[in-house]
Amino acid sequence: MGASEPSSRRRLTGKVVIATHNPGKLKEMQHLLGPYGVEAVSAGELGLAEPDETGTMFAENAAIKAHAAARATGLPAFADDSGIVVHALDGAPGLFSARWGGPSKDFAAAMARVKRELDERGVPAEQRTAHFVSALVIAWPDGHEELFEGRVHGALVHPPRGAQGFGYDPMFRPDGHERTFGEMSADEKHGLPPLGSALSHRARAFVALADACLKR
Ligand code: IMP
Repeated sequence: MGASEPSSRRRLTGKVVIATHNPGKLKEMQHLLGPYGVEAVSAGELGLAEPDETGTMFAENAAIKAHAAARATGLPAFADDSGIVVHALDGAPGLFSARWGGPSKDFAAAMARVKRELDERGVPAEQRTAHFVSALVIAWPDGHEELFEGRVHGALVHPPRGAQGFGYDPMFRPDGHERTFGEMSADEKHGLPPLGSALSHRARAFVALADACLKR
């Protein structure tokens, strides 16, 4: 697997499947795709099964999800695999970010676990840093794919602050900002032009994708 050379980039038009069953990510992707006139349907709405995420990297898992949805529907499919990488926890929860929420997707508990593990290791406040990663893949039914990655670095705060966004947003304060992602509106979290420059990991990956594959 690998990203194609820019010269062979393929453009996305018409209808696209958003290969996610995560309502938080679906909402963000629809928001991001909004201005490009692409009609987005979700894997959840189409009743597609969720493939096992067996990859060892974010990009691999995104590709597994995108190719499975493209094959099942005959449409181009768009998938994101993402997570939070806590530096003092050797990169955990990382690929397992969703799984730390457990079957009930309890991210208050997952954030409490991050804090507990940092406490157990005696990590001082200034070393409580992390980054979010988003790998975005568009796959076409013929097997072609395009890959884009975005990251955002920041500090972990406790107690978590704010009720916006999803997942680990309330405990993540991006560098250069006072407020956590949980305290920001979707527009602020993404920071997309013309409002600013891309801020969230997903928005950064999305801007690269939009430049290469979408037409305004
Ligand atoms: P997956 O990509 O579906 O495997 O899930 C990634 C998990 O990482 C999500 O369930 C969230 O817990 C976390 N995550 C990914 N992106 C974000 C974000 O933008 N804010 C907060 N948590 C996120």
